[in-house]
Parts: sequence; structure tokens; C-alpha cells
Amino acid sequence: MRYQEWPLASNMGDDISSAVDASSVQWVLVVKKQDVKTVKTVLEDRCLLNRSRKITPFWTSSNNNDECCLISTTFVEWESFTGDMEHHLKELGIEDLVVDAHILTTKDPRETEFTTPLRRAVQTWITSLPKGTITDEQAMALPQELRSGYSIYLPMLLLPPSTFTTPAWSALLPTLSIDQCAALYRTIANIMSLTHVAINAPIPPSTLDSPNTLRSPVNLVPLHGDFGPPSPIASPTQTDLDAAFWVSARQNGISQTWAPRHTMFSRGNIKEKARILALPSVREAAGYTAVDLYSGIGYFAFSYMRAGMSTVVGFEMNPWSVEGCRRGAEMNGWTVEVHEERDNIKENVQGKQMILFQMDNKHAEVVVGQLSQKIPAVRHVNCGLLPTSKASWGTALSLVDEELGGWAHLHENIKIEKIDTRARHVLSICQAVLDVQRDHQGGQTTMLELEHVERVKTYAPGIMHCVLNIYIPPNPRRS
Ligand SMILES: C[S@@+](CC[C@H](N)C(=O)[O-])C[C@H]1O[C@@H](n2cnc3c(N)ncnc32)[C@H](O)[C@@H]1O
Repeated sequence: MRYQEWPLASNMGDDISSAVDASSVQWVLVVKKQDVKTVKTVLEDRCLLNRSRKITPFWTSSNNNDECCLISTTFVEWESFTGDMEHHLKELGIEDLVVDAHILTTKDPRETEFTTPLRRAVQTWITSLPKGTITDEQAMALPQELRSGYSIYLPMLLLPPSTFTTPAWSALLPTLSIDQCAALYRTIANIMSLTHVAINAPIPPSTLDSPNTLRSPVNLVPLHGDFGPPSPIASPTQTDLDAAFWVSARQNGISQTWAPRHTMFSRGNIKEKARILALPSVREAAGYTAVDLYSGIGYFAFSYMRAGMSTVVGFEMNPWSVEGCRRGAEMNGWTVEVHEERDNIKENVQGKQMILFQMDNKHAEVVVGQLSQKIPAVRHVNCGLLPTSKASWGTALSLVDEELGGWAHLHENIKIEKIDTRARHVLSICQAVLDVQRDHQGGQTTMLELEHVERVKTYAPGIMHCVLNIYIPPNPRRS
């Protein structure tokens, strides 16, 4: 991807070239037609899409005559990143989807100083302060220091962890009264037409006394609005679930919902979700079953469902996520059934589109075995746990229908320079496991195929979140 300064009125559509006259800087992204929806959704999700400019078709010889479109971003959301666009696109997980990016230069960038809703809100709050509370320098610096990477998960504004840690903010906040702080957060919520504001925090790998297997967002800091009691509530009652604060997001046209105090949400997986939706092996398996061994709130499970699978079976230990998945399935119009016991599977699972098991996926083989007469054959198994899903690889291989064969999708964090070696190593581990399984079944073994390694997103410096697509051929004894 290359980027350069514009205006390039010569090869731009009217819509975009007129932006040069506007008193703002904007980024314009050139995106292949088939990727427009994904990029648009990512930008929307981060409030980076400039809705006032239509997405316009764009052809040049440099695009290899591929049909492309121009997507215009909001100026102010991007201004802190204009020096390092490639890095920012990587952070958004869309670097491979953006063919080219251009800056539309501004006449006077100061004119747009307060034009993000967040900055406008802070500006409003500043003007409401009694004279002398802050200096003119502070009044200038406070809005400017607000970075853009916030998310809106309706009806909540989720600010990045670094918000309010910059020099002007960290000097001011300790001097404010509780009421003044509350007024700041309330003004932000009101101006942005939201009801809740929180500051995000990385999900800790462990809590005080145990590993954080459920990925509970225990460090989230609510600033405004009633978020309900904090995590952990390990075994929530229906009253707990109903009393909690729930938010939602829509990605690739699919709704998801979760209680932000109790369940993580990873926005960066949107690219992998979009890939599943279009994956030929998934499309070919329409009408069959997919199993998601770490189904969470439906992150990937929903994409299998939307892509045409007849049934999706999910395993998830976090009851808050199971409830989010159940609610989300209903929001998308799918029938759903939740089971907490591995025996006594209810008769009414037959015909249900999503069947969720609130339990450790180590029971999946037994449970799916019991379901086998009630659901179509299993063709896809998703193992979506980071930093590694290896605890479930054996289960995944055993779940795929022996007669028809199928695919396992193994998520793994891998050092970038070791991706190929590690992928081959994972394949050899899986082959050894399959050999033993087939031996027990009295069948011949078959050679697994590593169909593809998807680089989903940079997880940490030098570490890539990868998905290994492994094809499991039919068992010759059975086919
Ligand atoms: C990383 S999270 C969400 C996964 C989702 N696929 C993603 O990457 O966004 C992993 C989920 O797996 C669940 N989990 C972890 N170990 C599990 C197990 N052994 N059985 C079932 N669920 C498990 C956690 O509760 C958590 O919701």
C-alpha cells in the first residue's frame, strides 16, 4: 500500500474532489469493490466513516483495472495518525484491504479543531466551568489531547485506556471535584447521544487467585451510567442477567450483544468473521453443522450461521457470554436453545439453528455424539482461543464427520517470522492425533491438508493472530 498527498482532482469522482474545497483534511481510501463492505463496517465501528461523502466508484490503471471504490474518512478522527497511515490501517485490521490511501489537504486545520463529537463535548464542558477553573492553555490543550480511537457500542462510549493520561488531562483531573468530573462524563454522554461512558482496559490473563479463562473484563472503568454490579458473578441468576447493562454492535450485518462488565469483545476479529462468511468451504457446507468450541457471544459462530450452515453448536464456559450468544442469536432471527447439562439433551433441540452448551468443551465429543441423530453432519469446527487453542485440537478432529470429511479452524498466536514453521508443526501434531484416532476406530488414516494460514491481525509487536485452516479428508473405512 502506498499513500500520498492529494488533491488529485484529475482521477477523482466529483464527490471526492469537492472535498478539497472543504476546510478539512480527510483520508480517502481506495478499496476493491468486494472489500468495501468490510472496510466500511470497520470505519463505522470506529466512527471513522465520513457519512457526508458517498462511497464512489474509482478506476485507474494502477488498480490493475480492478473495480475499486473511494471511501472517505472523517478528518479529525484520523489526524493523530496522518504520519503513519499504514500502522493505523494495520491496527484496524484492514491493511490488506486498502489498495491506496490519500490525504486531502486542508486550508486551515485549526478550523476543525473541535469537530469530533468527543472534542465538541469537552469544549462544551469547558465553557460550562466557572471562570478561572482552568487556564487558556489548558482550554486549548484538553480537547486537542483527546485521541480518536474510541468505540461506540450502543448505548456506550468506550474510551481507550490512554484517555485522560496525557499531560494536560493528568494535571487537571486530580484538581477537579467529583461533581465536576461527573459533569464532564455526563456532557460527553449527552452530546454524543449515549447513556454510558467507560474506559477500556486490557483483559488481564489472570485475576487475583486464578487464570482468567473466561476472559472477564474486570478492569473496565465505568465513568457514567449504571453498569450493574462488577464482575465476577460466576453463576448469574436470571435476575442478575436481566439487571446487567448490555450493549450491542453490528459487524458484517450481524448483531452481537454482551454485558461489558462480564464479557470481552474483540473488534479486531471483524476481518476473520468476514472471511468465514465468504469462505468457499463454508459455503459448500451449507446445510450441515458447524461446531464452535469457544463460542463466546457468537463471535465466529454467528458468521457460520449467516454463511448458510444449518446448525451451529457452541460450547462456552462463561454464562454471561452464553446469555449474550442466546440474545444475539434471537436478535439475528435464529432459533436457539441453551443446555447446561451434558446428559438429558432436550428433545426440542431438533430443528434449532443454534444449540449452546454452557460447559467446558472437553465434553464436546460426548455431547455432539448424543446429538448426532438430531443434527446434520459436522463439517466445520472452530477453535477460537488465544494465545493457543491446542487443548481442543484433538476434539476438533474427532468431531468432523468421518464419511464426508471437513475442516478445523485453529486459532494461534505465532511469532511473525515463525508462521510457516509453526503451521507445519501444528499440522504434524494434528496428523499424529488423527492417526491415533483413526487407529482406534479401526480405519485407515488419511493425510491432513493445511489449506490456508490466515493472518488475522497483529496481536502484539511481532506476534500475529493466525487461523490455520486444516482439511480432514473422509475416513476411507467409512466413505
Ligand atoms: C477469546 S474468548 C472469545 C473467543 C472468540 N472466538 C474471539 O476470539 O473473539 C474465548 C472464549 O472461550 C471461552 N473458553 C475458554 N476455555 C473454554 C473451554 N475449555 N470450554 C469452553 N469455553 C471456553 C472463554 O470463556 C471465552 O469466552
